[in-house]
Order: sequence, then C-alpha cells, then structure tokens
Amino acid sequence: MRIADALSIVAVATACAVLAGLVGLTVARLVRRRSIRWQLAVVAVVPVAGAYLGATAVARLMFISAHDLLVMSVVSSVAALGAVGIALVVAAAIARWSDALRAQLRTFDATSSESAGGTPGTAELRSLADELDRTRERLREAQDRERRLEEARRELVSWVSHDLRTPLAGIRVMTEALEDDMTTDPARYHRQIRAEVDRMSGMVDDLFELARIQAGALVIAPEPVLLSDLVSEALAAITPIAEANGIRVEGAVDEGVEVSADPAGIARVLDNLLVNAVRHTRPGRSVEVRGSLVAGRVEIAVSDGCGGLPTEDLARVFDVAWQGTPSRTPEGTARGGGLGLAIVKGIVEAHDGHVVVENRPRETGCRFLVVLPGQ
Ligand SMILES: Nc1ncnc2c1ncn2[C@@H]1O[C@H](COP(=O)(O)OP(=O)(O)O)[C@@H](O)[C@H]1O
Ligand SMILES: [Mg+2]
Repeated sequence: MRIADALSIVAVATACAVLAGLVGLTVARLVRRRSIRWQLAVVAVVPVAGAYLGATAVARLMFISAHDLLVMSVVSSVAALGAVGIALVVAAAIARWSDALRAQLRTFDATSSESAGGTPGTAELRSLADELDRTRERLREAQDRERRLEEARRELVSWVSHDLRTPLAGIRVMTEALEDDMTTDPARYHRQIRAEVDRMSGMVDDLFELARIQAGALVIAPEPVLLSDLVSEALAAITPIAEANGIRVEGAVDEGVEVSADPAGIARVLDNLLVNAVRHTRPGRSVEVRGSLVAGRVEIAVSDGCGGLPTEDLARVFDVAWQGTPSRTPEGTARGGGLGLAIVKGIVEAHDGHVVVENRPRETGCRFLVVLPGQ
C-alpha cells in the first residue's frame, strides 16, 4: 500500500470516528437523565458505528466490491447487536444494585441495625454503601447525645421544681410560724431559715454557672498559679468540716508545680471535688489530694473512702442533675443538686483539660483525676 493511500485511510477513519463520537456524545447528553442503560448502549454502539462508517467510507474511496461491503456491514451489525446486548446486561446489573442501595436509603434511619456495607455492586456503589453505614453511625451517636441532653434537661427542670420548691415551702412555714408567734424557739427558726437560704443561693449560683458553661459563655482568665497554693486553700476550707465528721484530709503537691489556669475556676473544681469526697467518705477513713506534674501535664487526684461506685454509676456522675442514691449528708456539706460534677467537668474542659473517675483498688473508694495542660 502506498503511503498516500495509508494516510488517506487514517484521515477518513479518524473523521468517521470523530463524527460517530460527536453524535454519540450528543445522544449521551440528551439521555443523561434517563437510566444508565441508555448511556451504556451509546458507549457500546459508538465504536461499532465509528468502525462501520469508517470502513464504508474507505470502501467507497477505494472502490471495494459491493459484496465485500455487504459482508462488512453484516459483521458490524452483528458486533453492534452483541455490544448493545452486553451493555444492557451490565446496565441491568447496575440498575439492580442501585435499586438495592435505594431500598437501603429508603429505610435509612439511626435505629436500623441492617448494615449497607454488604451491598453488592461496583466499587463506587460499595463505597457509597460504606459511607451510608458511617453516616448511620454518626446519626446514631448524635441522637444518643441529643437524648442524653434531653434527659438531663428534664431532670434539671424536675430538680429545680423539687429541690428549690421544697426548701421554699419550709421557709414559708417557718416564717408563718414566726409571724403568728407560734414558736417557742424563734432563734432556731431564724438559723434554719438562714441555712436554707444559703443552700438555695448556692444552688442558684450552681445553676447560673452551669448555664454559662452550657452556653459556652464561660470565660477563663488563665494565669500562672502555684498548684500547692490552690490545694492548700481548698484543704483549709474543707478540713474543719471533715474533722467534725471523723474524716482525715491529707494533701501532697509536688514542689514548684505551676499551672496556667483561672484560679477561681480551679478553686471551685477542688472545692466541689473535696465536698463530694468528704460527704461520701465513711467516718474513720481519709480523703487524699495529690498534685503532680506527669509528662508535662498537671494532674490533681482526689481520692476518697466511699467504698467504690458501681460501674454504671461511674459513667453517670458527671451528668447534670444525676445524684445516684441518696447518701448521708455530714454536717456542713449540704447536698447540692447534682450539678457539682457537671460544673467541674465544664470548668476543666474550658481549660482544655479533662476529668475522669475510677474506683480505687479493693473497694476502698473512688478517685477523681483532673488533668490540665502544663505551663
Ligand atoms: N467522691 C464521691 N464518692 C462517691 N460518689 C460520689 C462522689 N462524688 C460524687 N458522687 C456521686 O455523684 C453524684 C453527683 O455529684 P455532684 O454532681 O457533685 O452532685 P451532688 O453533690 O449535688 O449530689 C452524687 O450525688 C454522688 O452520688
Ligand atoms: Mg457535689
């Protein structure tokens, strides 16, 4: 074959392939919103049509016999039919797989346990199914969180109505008795009213603090403070109450440990932890505070002698308004409203730290560990 002939064959074949391709693309664009069957049929037909067009044009150019042209047309048509058949089979499978995925999506919610991961199909469809599983997992976590928050809100409302209304009713009865001169010991009533009012204002303070924490409005002003100063101040406040109840309080802080923190916030954290520790420690046992620097982070551990908490309670102590079973309330440590540890957690987390609780060995008690970033 002469080079000129070969070149003209390539040129004609290319022109025909481009023409078939352009028509194919136009059709594919027109049917883009229809089933994938149409797209695949176009993909199957275009190369065969291009080849047929090219061959016919070249045949006319080269004066190939009518017989040869007929043979070629038959061969191309059969090839085109075969290609379209295969395309339709593949398209049917893809349509089936996507139907299965759609069925999964239709019943999609966080509660369905059925995993979409096993869906058959192409890599793309399977990765879509995996993504569906991950989304379901995220949805489930979000719903759990939402449910816990809702529960906490409900508990808080019932707490406010119960824990604040009961003392108010008591105060009302006492003031009425005082008003009517019905009491032989007015001084005792005054003292009691005063104690109730103090306790209630403590609760209202807690409620405000918690509202600020939950609204993300807790502003901390960190400054370098000596951990030993914070601990000794907290110990000084709690020791008389503990001793009056037969509980020893011990503190040990590594020398020179500094923490960058809001002193009032951390004082409140220590206070809440110590009041709890003393309240739940049995007489004769002790409460220990340990402050140390571990791997560049400041750790404050408050251990008590409460006898250990049930595992399911360990996960709940930081929940708002959760109080577990009523415990004895020693002199000087009025029972709060289940907000103390939620506040502790909020303040510690606002400092980019975290707080955990664990049981000490041999059911002696539990240990609250506050970890704060070091200086
Ligand atoms: N040191 C502790 N030892 C044992 N149980 C504790 C301790 N601290 C807290 N708890 C449990 O966690 C609950 C929640 O504590 P908190 O948020 O401080 O609320 P409150 O002290 O007002 O009850 C307590 O009611 C108690 O059941
Ligand atoms: Mg408390």
